[in-house]
Amino acid sequence: MSFSDEVRSRLLQPSDSGNEEPVRLPTRRFVDRSFYEAERAEVFGRTWLFTGRVDEIARPGLYMTWEKTTVPLLLVHAVDDVIRCFYNSCRHRGAPVVRVPRGRNRALRCQYHSWTYDTSGKLVSVPDERDFVDLHREERSLVPVACSLAGGAIFVNENPQEDLGSWLGPTVGEMSSVSSESLRTLDQRSITIPANWKRVLGNLLAAPLTPPRPGLKTMGTTRSDIQALEGGHIRIITPFDEETAVALGLENPFNWTSLNDEGLPSLPNLDPIFCSTATTYVLSPNLLVSFTPSGVLSFTAWPLDEETTLLDATWYAPDWGEEDSPANLPAWSQRLEWTQAQLDGIATTLESAQNEMKEPARQGLSLHYESEAFRLWNESLDARLSEVVPADTLTGAAPGEIRSPLKS
Ligand code: FES
Repeated sequence: MSFSDEVRSRLLQPSDSGNEEPVRLPTRRFVDRSFYEAERAEVFGRTWLFTGRVDEIARPGLYMTWEKTTVPLLLVHAVDDVIRCFYNSCRHRGAPVVRVPRGRNRALRCQYHSWTYDTSGKLVSVPDERDFVDLHREERSLVPVACSLAGGAIFVNENPQEDLGSWLGPTVGEMSSVSSESLRTLDQRSITIPANWKRVLGNLLAAPLTPPRPGLKTMGTTRSDIQALEGGHIRIITPFDEETAVALGLENPFNWTSLNDEGLPSLPNLDPIFCSTATTYVLSPNLLVSFTPSGVLSFTAWPLDEETTLLDATWYAPDWGEEDSPANLPAWSQRLEWTQAQLDGIATTLESAQNEMKEPARQGLSLHYESEAFRLWNESLDARLSEVVPADTLTGAAPGEIRSPLKS
């Protein structure tokens, strides 16, 4: 049975949801400094993290700094055409090697005392080198960070336990129809939200992501097929309702075919299921990817501390070459307005969420109205944390029954 047939058959079975007890998430997951520090070490310090796409540093010599995890990193398109990542810390006295967010050079020169590195990280020049007794240049290369590509997307990992392909698991095959090599970054926007990053993820997962399609005012949806995938990733496929499906050109919500967005260049060979439904992959820990026939949308939530999240939204479209960016076309303008509204809406919704989680009487966040996807996502997070955080902070722990001090 094909992937689409499997999804369709699950969706056409009667729903068995509605009888289960709501799952509760202990509030300490969202407010406690020690829980956050465990996440930093065990999740963000050991997982492949999406940093952007190759087109952001498309040519040899281009570089960009990257500090979304609060660790200063430097991504370089090296002159040998390899994308590399280093800690942005000079091997002389630790000053940032690069101080501007983006640039292009064949060498990376620290501005403090002009130690200079090539784009493979090798220390190639030290002014007044004679003054440095016992300096061995080969021991002072920039410290590398694991960096791998998947379909033009750049991932980094400070302490890889497995290679990128193994970590992505089945999502690589399922998303193989997305010709991601030919995508180009069309728009990037961010917002800082005064709430724990898990609340932000929960909000993104509370309803299907339905970016506007040209000519459609509303995008109604039906029940989702939500599947936990190997590696802690999650797939959410939500058919449109009858009215939306027909307006899009489908015979019915389950008769998935290749569609185009009127007036916009299409992603070539995109699997019909991605064209005809609202599909989102949640790549653990913090990346959501959704599809339309003419563009791919990503959201990434970065915890700046236990109470603050940087939420990025980025659209990718088929490369438009030397033409003007399509961002000003009415269909894209509408989509970008929708994207800004999503960011603003989450910020407004969560404005007082963090303080509410600190109220002593509140011990758990009930998932009554949050999605099944959010429960699965929390459980996949727990799989990485269960050895280092108290059991009563894990998903489903009954608040109030056991209270153990969080490790400091
Ligand atoms: S700290 Fe970079 S050259 Fe001295």
